Amino acid sequence: MTTDKQEITARAHTNIALVKYWGKKDDNLIIPQTDSISLTLADFYTDTTVAFDDQLSADSLKIDNKPIFDKEALKVQKVLDLVRNLAKINTYAKVSSTNHVPMAAGLASSASGFAALAAAASRAAGLDLSDTDLSRLARQGSGSASRSVFGGFVQWHSGNDNETSFATQIDSAQNWDIKVVALIIKKSRKKHSSTQAMRESVETSPYYPVWRQVVAKDLKTITHAIRTHDFDLLGSTSELNAMRMHALTLSSDPAFTYFNGQTIELLEKVKELRANNVNCYATVDAGPNIKVLCQSKDLNQIITVFSQLIGPENVIATEPGSGIQYL
Ligand code: DP6
Repeated sequence: MTTDKQEITARAHTNIALVKYWGKKDDNLIIPQTDSISLTLADFYTDTTVAFDDQLSADSLKIDNKPIFDKEALKVQKVLDLVRNLAKINTYAKVSSTNHVPMAAGLASSASGFAALAAAASRAAGLDLSDTDLSRLARQGSGSASRSVFGGFVQWHSGNDNETSFATQIDSAQNWDIKVVALIIKKSRKKHSSTQAMRESVETSPYYPVWRQVVAKDLKTITHAIRTHDFDLLGSTSELNAMRMHALTLSSDPAFTYFNGQTIELLEKVKELRANNVNCYATVDAGPNIKVLCQSKDLNQIITVFSQLIGPENVIATEPGSGIQYL
């Protein structure tokens, strides 16, 4: 089969997990140990353009206008190979991706990146995949990307194999009053990859079996909170779930933490605000940065307080975002 040089651009947004994914049971297919739930964010996204071109003698891969190599390139090629297999083509692709996310700052650019790649590459190869199939494909680049195919509140069903492991939308969050304030403490690349760190947690943390139980309970609570629009239940459960995930890195051998001194200080500030009747809750992914969940009524106060502490340029407010878009 020959391919035309159709160039497709797709946009996918990042997501923050409210019930975290932390551990795989299949490293190659990226099948997680547990389900997870996230919220897709409007203002952090990746735009990816893909064209298959039979003039190319290798895949040409660029992120933010710079060629990528090694591990990063291998993961992109893995997704391209899956697309080539599905479309029954063997043409190389030109991929160009632009992040509107501080790279690897704990704002999960891999989630938006692989979701946008799955969408753009499959369409450019002439495929018309369902969102479920896109979620399966994005998952094999980076687990959290399976959730970025959808907008609003999303659940990734762990499943047991490629067929059964994909995300679905729980609620678009359009009728929800929920804001997310990202506190950027460090923009540089994380030193401990989440892939490696979660493997260490599964293999060495004595608390890992308990984590599975924590997640099973939190999934029920957060689902209930989403359905009943209970912001405080959603926020408090998310915050505790994040702290318990980070307890897994602290209890791994060798032990480490993604938190730095400022993470701890700002987490204390969130608690202090809460003690003063500002309803806000914190969550932290695989980096030192914090995302604060709040409602419109408290947004300005939260932005002011944290801007004074870390500078207004490091405080970015956003709201629930949508699923894949083709530009
Ligand atoms: C802490 O999806 O980046 O953000 O599947 O190995 O690529 P890989 O990991 P990744 O891990 C995300 C971890 C997390 C929690 C979450 O998003 O659920």
